[in-house]
Amino acid sequence: MKFSSFVHFAAFGVKTIIFRKKLPILGTVIITDRCNLHCKHCSVNNITAVIHPYAQIKSEMQKLYDMGVRILFFCGGETFMWHSDGKTLRDLVAEAKEMGFLIVNVVTNGTFPIDLPEADLILLSLDGDREKHNEIRGDTYDTIMENISRATADNICFYMAINKINKDKVKDVCLTAKNTKNVRAVSFNFHTPYPDTKELALTKEEKAECCKVIGEMMKAGAPVFNLKSAFKYLINNSFPTPCHQCVVIENGKVSTCGRCIDVPGLCEKCGYFFVAEYTLLFRGNVKIIFEMLKTYLKYI
Ligand SMILES: C[S@@+](CC[C@H](N)C(=O)[O-])C[C@H]1O[C@@H](n2cnc3c(N)ncnc32)[C@H](O)[C@@H]1O
Ligand code: SF4
Ligand code: SF4
Repeated sequence: MKFSSFVHFAAFGVKTIIFRKKLPILGTVIITDRCNLHCKHCSVNNITAVIHPYAQIKSEMQKLYDMGVRILFFCGGETFMWHSDGKTLRDLVAEAKEMGFLIVNVVTNGTFPIDLPEADLILLSLDGDREKHNEIRGDTYDTIMENISRATADNICFYMAINKINKDKVKDVCLTAKNTKNVRAVSFNFHTPYPDTKELALTKEEKAECCKVIGEMMKAGAPVFNLKSAFKYLINNSFPTPCHQCVVIENGKVSTCGRCIDVPGLCEKCGYFFVAEYTLLFRGNVKIIFEMLKTYLKYI
């Protein structure tokens, strides 16, 4: 991370904590909800299957920038399926950087060739060892691993959504992150139980066991892009929600925190680690502040 970016984030953090501000810093543009997969745990694919046009995405990026967002995520659906007016995802990333976003990340299922060296991080979903990943995501594991080995930069971070199916594979994904070329780290979430995937939610005890394993792996040197100090809040779902420093824009509609804010009662069961980490950070949790500094400077 550039020193000037660090100064911007530090100033934003201090102002937010002291004056209890609710301005956003992290924004996500949903560029399409079309997807080539139908993962068992996912409720947001192919609802409209529309690829939003380039001009619309560009104006949504500008809108987020004008709101103060400086960490931008492109998400889907499957982001690598996006193309419009001769532009690709790679063009969007480059243009986001030119626009002035300080960190630009992409979330992908990894089934398309990966040539995005301009992205700060490519969050690539890996949901277990080959068996469990394929059980959730269809027969994609080998294709993903092949795409990773051929990627043109080492900016990949695994993204694992832990649920009832793959809860025993946390260690496998940590070790794969540690031992795979082009992979910098792994970041976790717990399953957030939308009404149609309630049965995949973990119990408190299961979440505690997963956090124990993640903690042990961190101690053993696995590159985990999460904050240990947030684990107890994630296990008990005792972190504040929603995150007012995060916004999502999809087809012109801006939502605080996530599209899921419209699902009644979901925030109390939220499994997204970034929500716990950011809300605790901006409430001034000292342990979280120090751990975030250390972790972000290491991986971005
Ligand atoms: C919706 S997908 C979009 C990007 C891309 N298609 C992918 O799979 O990475 C973004 C991330 O959300 C995760 N996800 C989907 N449904 C979830 C849920 N109910 N709870 C937690 N994570 C979820 C996916 O596993 C993926 O890592
Ligand atoms: S690849 Fe991503 S968007 Fe597509 S179904 Fe799976 S989790 Fe959902
Ligand atoms: S806190 Fe609510 S809106 Fe935010 S990610 Fe969690 S469930 Fe979605």
